[in-house]
Amino acid sequence: MINAVTAILKPDAPGIAVAARLLRQGGLVAFPTETVYGLGADATNDLAVADIFKAKGRPSFNPLIVHLADIDAAYSIAEFSIAAQRLAEAFWPGPLTLVVPLKDNAGISPLVSAGLATIAIRVPEHPLARELLSVFAGPVAAPSANPSGRVSPTSADHVIAGLDGQIAAILDGGVCAVGLESTIIGFQPGPTLLRPGGLPVEVIEACLGRPLSFATDATTPNAPTSPGQLSSHYATTASIRLYADTKGPGEVMLGFGVMDCDLNLSASGDLVEAAANLFHHLRNLDATGTEHIAVAPIPDHGLGRAINDRLRRAAAPRD
Ligand code: TXA
Ligand code: MG
Repeated sequence: MINAVTAILKPDAPGIAVAARLLRQGGLVAFPTETVYGLGADATNDLAVADIFKAKGRPSFNPLIVHLADIDAAYSIAEFSIAAQRLAEAFWPGPLTLVVPLKDNAGISPLVSAGLATIAIRVPEHPLARELLSVFAGPVAAPSANPSGRVSPTSADHVIAGLDGQIAAILDGGVCAVGLESTIIGFQPGPTLLRPGGLPVEVIEACLGRPLSFATDATTPNAPTSPGQLSSHYATTASIRLYADTKGPGEVMLGFGVMDCDLNLSASGDLVEAAANLFHHLRNLDATGTEHIAVAPIPDHGLGRAINDRLRRAAAPRD
């Protein structure tokens, strides 16, 4: 679809009705979730899904997450082991994505799973996402609604900044509460962390009663396990220096805890607040036109693990 003008839809019943109609027609619709804004397409429509990759300028067809209205919809398209079922029932709706075997004849476009036998599924918690999914009444494929490799969007303005004119519409639901993408868990063979995210690893391990395995690029050289296969991801225009105690010459400083800095992820040292602020603050510091951003050390537990994962990718060498 050519979309010279991207419609901004209000977060009300008529807005949701238009969004669902556009999805049915094969259009791309950005919508809020509790993690980040998703760039949605009808997951059963090959052309619509292909349009996602075009709009994002993705370098390859890496697999996408399918968003569903409820657990029963998930059980109808994929096979859930006991461990997968336990996590789904404990944490859905919520910021958790499960990679599980796709059933035959589930009707999902093979582009969504990039031809893999597994599918990434999430039941989001944001009320507008849930409403849209139930009015649309089908699976919605949605990566984060940003051009490939850039910082993920946590407000409608961020989506417009990256994708205006490339997508049919955006459902404006204000700012995302969690502020960083879902945690992704796979099960091949046992429960494995594929991407740290909005649901802390410790909480998942407590639910399973066992530690998670950790996928690394070394153990899964070709598997599309996480955006780690791309050296630079979540990139700002400015370069990023991590674990900085103080700001150097020509740098702006992203702080954490009580300190002298330009923007603080959380002055009180709260990792939940820091996660919600992360992509906003990176964008705002980048927008100052600075060439270098120094980032204070962030504790590596709870949501801090996901924050550090995103920061390391943002700081990775550029191509
Ligand atoms: O919070 C989120 O998860 C957001 C919101 C919009 O829901 N979505 C999101 O999607 O972050 P995306 O496309 O940016 O990330 C999807 C990740 C990719 O890193 C991909 O490698 C992984 O999920 N993935 C998808 N299907 C997979 C599969 N079958 N096996 C392994 N990894 C898979
Ligand atoms: Mg993304």
